[in-house]
Amino acid sequence: TWTTHNVVEEQVAAIREQVGDKRVICGLSGGVDSAVAAALVQKAVGDQLTCVFVDHGLLRKGEGEQVEKDFVAATGVQLKVVDAQERFLAALAGKTDPEEKRKIIGREFIRVFEQAAAEVVAEAGAHGESVEFLVQGTLYPDVVESGGGTGTANIKSHHNVGGLPEDLQFRLVEPLRKLFKDEVRKVGEELGLPAEIVWRQPFPGPGLGIRIIGEVTRDRLDLLRDADAIAREELTAAGLDREIWQCPVVLLADVRSVGVQGDGRTYGHPVVLRPVSSEDAMTADWSRLPYDVLARISTRITNEVRDVNRVVLDVTSKPPGTIEWE
Ligand code: XMP
Repeated sequence: TWTTHNVVEEQVAAIREQVGDKRVICGLSGGVDSAVAAALVQKAVGDQLTCVFVDHGLLRKGEGEQVEKDFVAATGVQLKVVDAQERFLAALAGKTDPEEKRKIIGREFIRVFEQAAAEVVAEAGAHGESVEFLVQGTLYPDVVESGGGTGTANIKSHHNVGGLPEDLQFRLVEPLRKLFKDEVRKVGEELGLPAEIVWRQPFPGPGLGIRIIGEVTRDRLDLLRDADAIAREELTAAGLDREIWQCPVVLLADVRSVGVQGDGRTYGHPVVLRPVSSEDAMTADWSRLPYDVLARISTRITNEVRDVNRVVLDVTSKPPGTIEWE
């Protein structure tokens, strides 16, 4: 029978069996999936694990700090932080096609990883060890939607499945591969992770990079980060965090419209609010948020974020729309 306790015991045993006494590396994205996967591996093999946090510059406000402080405090895991912001911006320059952006982000991510792993190897080399395993927080829906093993059509290249290079130098440890998100949260609770991490809403691996419709630039990222932070603050203040599955904020960077702000005409960008309710992200419905909450978000974003003069609401379910716009 399925109990969270059994899943943890089973996975811990499976990880020990697979990994033996070898070294393991794990990428932390700030999300619940990688955090729970890492915590499981940490429970199984302790200090054989080193976590790597790649700051690709596509993160939301405060996410880096959450990983560097809260997660480390909760687990005591060994952490290596890599600042790769310039590298990702350079790789994404001029790119607008959604799948191309996803593939670039996935590819750069793995390369930065391999570099970091090489450093971990070098550090461990003194003791004659090497890193053989890579932990991934791949969930069952990621496997299905990337066409992995089920023959399902590929919808999007989820970067932790579809984007892996063929010459990958690690063997994969994927302890969440059979689980849905709600089960992962239960496992996280069972492992004693703090609520802020366990109940964090899903955020895609490619981050804000696939929430800017158009080219990804530093200015656009800053703008979207500010708008996103406001939306999250207001949703949290309204007590809606557990009710909605997630609320992507999407910047239509190549669209402009005329507005009037302060004492003059503006010609700025719209942002889209995409609040959804879902059980597992395979299907979703648009959340019927209270009008006063929508009003506060809209007023604050247009007042506080320069260059955004319009806030629109996405009222499409999945299908036909996916949750993310790219
Ligand atoms: P879509 O847009 O396909 O998203 O309806 C379904 C869920 O998956 C998240 N998502 C991702 N998660 N890597 C991830 O780890 C990715 O590349 C990725 N793309 C989308 C999305 O936020 C939603 O929760």
